[in-house]
Amino acid sequence: MNKDAIPGAAPADDRAAVIRQDLQNVLHPVVPHRQLEAEPLVIVAGKGSTVIDANGAEYLDAMAGLWCVNVGYGRTELADVAAAQMRVLPYYPHTAINAPAAALAERVNGLMGGDNHVYFVASGSEANEAGFKIARQYMKHEHPGHYRYKTISRYLGYHGTTHATLAAGGMGDRKTKFEPLSGNDFVHVAPPYCYRCPFGLAYPSCELACVKNIEATIQGEGPDTVSTLLVEPIMSGVGIAVPPDEYLPEVAALARKYGCLLHVDEVINGFGRTGKMFAHQHSGIRPDIVAIAKGLVSAYLPIAATVVKNHVFQSFVGEPSENRQVFQISTYGGHPAAAAVALRNIQIIVEEGLVARSAENGAYLLDGLRTLMKHPWVGDVRGKGLLAGVELVRDRRGKEVLPADRIKGVVDFARKNGVIVGRSGGGRHLGNTITLSPPLVITRPEIDRVVAVLDKAIAEMGAALGTPS
Ligand SMILES: Cc1ncc(COP(=O)(O)O)c(C=O)c1O
Repeated sequence: MNKDAIPGAAPADDRAAVIRQDLQNVLHPVVPHRQLEAEPLVIVAGKGSTVIDANGAEYLDAMAGLWCVNVGYGRTELADVAAAQMRVLPYYPHTAINAPAAALAERVNGLMGGDNHVYFVASGSEANEAGFKIARQYMKHEHPGHYRYKTISRYLGYHGTTHATLAAGGMGDRKTKFEPLSGNDFVHVAPPYCYRCPFGLAYPSCELACVKNIEATIQGEGPDTVSTLLVEPIMSGVGIAVPPDEYLPEVAALARKYGCLLHVDEVINGFGRTGKMFAHQHSGIRPDIVAIAKGLVSAYLPIAATVVKNHVFQSFVGEPSENRQVFQISTYGGHPAAAAVALRNIQIIVEEGLVARSAENGAYLLDGLRTLMKHPWVGDVRGKGLLAGVELVRDRRGKEVLPADRIKGVVDFARKNGVIVGRSGGGRHLGNTITLSPPLVITRPEIDRVVAVLDKAIAEMGAALGTPS
């Protein structure tokens, strides 16, 4: 690639001009601006699991962007589908019917058992937020005279960036700058983060103390104030916390017992990421509300959805005079071009067997990552499908968390060696897990490269730290 040519860059037409244009005009998310000034990364193209920067350097993207490019980069057929739809109907609000959104809803419904309706929005945050609101409205319809409004969610969870989804989340670092958030409508319980069990217990002798904690919280809050239990089946952002197999069925049983709705966040977990089409399908439970985004369209366009079981949908069906309809709208919800692309994206996932591939290559990845336990600074390796975490500690016995700059050093080393890995967002103090969520099309030789580069990166970090006594 010509070092100075940047596709799509106008009026600036070379790397230095684009960087100047960006730094003088763009307010970026999350990344410190001084860091961007020092190490500007301009990504210009991608193919399969690889992205290319403006210098022509290639990186194996073991994070699939932001846990989302499930079918990999460079699927020009998805661009063709978008262009064809935009020529016919670029947009119309979803108060009316459009064909791509109807077809996509049918497809998604079919993948989740066929007894659902699908409410479209534009991002994972909105999908969760719509879930909270649908649950509250449902409770007002179904329990007149009472108001069940609280959502019970977990510390260390992440469910989005809006005010309410941040409040539902339990990641301190993401929240502190904006606190106080909402009142007592989001109540937190202990997460099933077994490596650092909040109760200091170990599975199975813990007898799922984290589930008992949920029940105690429902009782403490008063069941008639609780609308939903919110869970991400495998907690991604904190560093891939995989709960015991019984956890989700037991949470589902609690929701049934206390008449709450079970709201499952499949924003990252969905569309093959964990080796099933949806992570809740590992345990066979049927949630009342499911938030989907990212892999729904492999991030080729913004579209997301809140999928509700028909018993919830029925609560919103009525004559105009009854005012039972969903009382919110998102301009881009049901966007025809995004829906057409999502439909084709799902077809690719199914036709290419990417869900089974995620399960098989995920097991291969995990085997590879387990070899890293030879380093004394690797405390834990865990994952399911192509979603994995390597937790780094000062020493395995004490599990002391390493300083952020050490973890950043591992991520930077990997990038300099051509592999992009992520790191956990953490709570107020946990940012020490290397996260992996590659495109589902990643090949075994590419997986070997990820493991080999991490091996070197951890060895380098460890050499600077010294061997624990
Ligand atoms: C589990 C989970 N839920 C929701 C969201 C929010 O999605 P979005 O960034 O599309 O709003 C994210 C984002 O990473 C997520 O990881």
